[in-house]
Amino acid sequence: MKYYLILFISILLFSCKKEEKIEPVKIEKWEMEKPSYFPNPVYNFVNNEQTKGRFDLGRKLFYDPLLSIDGTVSCATCHSQGHAFAGHNVKISPGVNGLLGTRNSPSITNLAWYPSFMWDGGVNHIEVFSVAPITNPVEMNETMINVVAKINANSTYKELFKTNYGIENVTDQAILRALTQYMAMIVSADSKYDKYRKGTETLSAEESEGLLLFQTKCASCHQEPLFTNFSYKNNGLDTAFIDKGRGKITQNPNDDGKFRVPSLRNVMLTYPYMHDGRFHSIEDVLEHYNSGIKQSYTLNAELSNGIPLTENEKAKIITFLNTLTDYSLLNNYELGEH
Ligand code: HEC
Ligand code: HEC
Repeated sequence: MKYYLILFISILLFSCKKEEKIEPVKIEKWEMEKPSYFPNPVYNFVNNEQTKGRFDLGRKLFYDPLLSIDGTVSCATCHSQGHAFAGHNVKISPGVNGLLGTRNSPSITNLAWYPSFMWDGGVNHIEVFSVAPITNPVEMNETMINVVAKINANSTYKELFKTNYGIENVTDQAILRALTQYMAMIVSADSKYDKYRKGTETLSAEESEGLLLFQTKCASCHQEPLFTNFSYKNNGLDTAFIDKGRGKITQNPNDDGKFRVPSLRNVMLTYPYMHDGRFHSIEDVLEHYNSGIKQSYTLNAELSNGIPLTENEKAKIITFLNTLTDYSLLNNYELGEH
């Protein structure tokens, strides 16, 4: 009896010891939802394999004002979940010290499908994107060197980067990759429109008529299913270009006044509209296309006579645009601050 007990205990000790040595860091896979009718994403998490732990770390960073110079502004200050990750219904979202930039905070969803970022396409890789808001003087006004130092001085972050990226010293690259794990998961693919595409819901007669009107009048630029074709177009807002838009990046005057076609997913929640937030309501936007197009040498040819819309057609288009609101996204606990 005694002998058996000793044997049992020693086997137990031996197996425990052995297990301790070979047990790898457990990583739970966390995959991106991708409906069948979506194209292939541009960003594939190469060298940044998706895990739940990394995603949680990215979320923590996204909501952390530590990334700004004075600890007052986080990414979520200007990209709020309740507004489909756009600004809080303001023309220009204030950054540190209430400073204002010149452009409206866009809704950020389905970023893994984006070939470029910003209203002018000035950044072309999601993994370097966050340097822009962090270092922008009117947004977070911080340096990457300081952000790295602050993160390394924080024992919670140090532990999280060690567990999830296997590094003792946190680098700027790891911070940017963790942020990307979160950002690329802000997927909007569960609106009524999506349920219609998946065959689980039907559109009402008015919604279907609105979709048809949208497809004939708007979809050449706001292409389904992402509601943008990612091209740069001048949609007739101005005659002279205070903000050159795409022209600022390419230095080509033929690109002046062109801006990236924005996605219209969740558009009913992301007012005010356009790169400078000039239109308060969707009705204003439709009236712009109907009667407000301004002529200029870079105006998109398709819009040279505007897009004539009757009141009835406008109402139907708006009814359709409402089907793009994704309540699952707004209520997704995993994407929220916690
Ligand atoms: C002070 C407000 C503010 C803060 C803070 C801010 N952003 Fe933004 N964000 C903007 C504005 C404004 C733009 C559009 C800039 C432009 O096009 O020139 C933008 C654009 C973006 C885009 C590009 C979207 C597109 O359609 O191409 C992404 C992605 C993004 N922000 C993510 C972030 C992340 C991540 C953080 C935190 C590290 C952050 N933002 C912090 C205001 C802000
Ligand atoms: C020739 C291409 C083109 C066509 C056609 C077009 N748009 Fe646009 N749309 C754009 C561009 C480019 C912008 C961004 C312009 C800017 O901010 O400078 C835009 C912006 C918008 C915005 C603002 C979105 C936001 O987040 O600020 C809405 C809403 C919109 N369009 C709806 C429509 C509707 C509805 C139609 C059809 C009646 C339509 N568009 C037709 C190119 C187009």
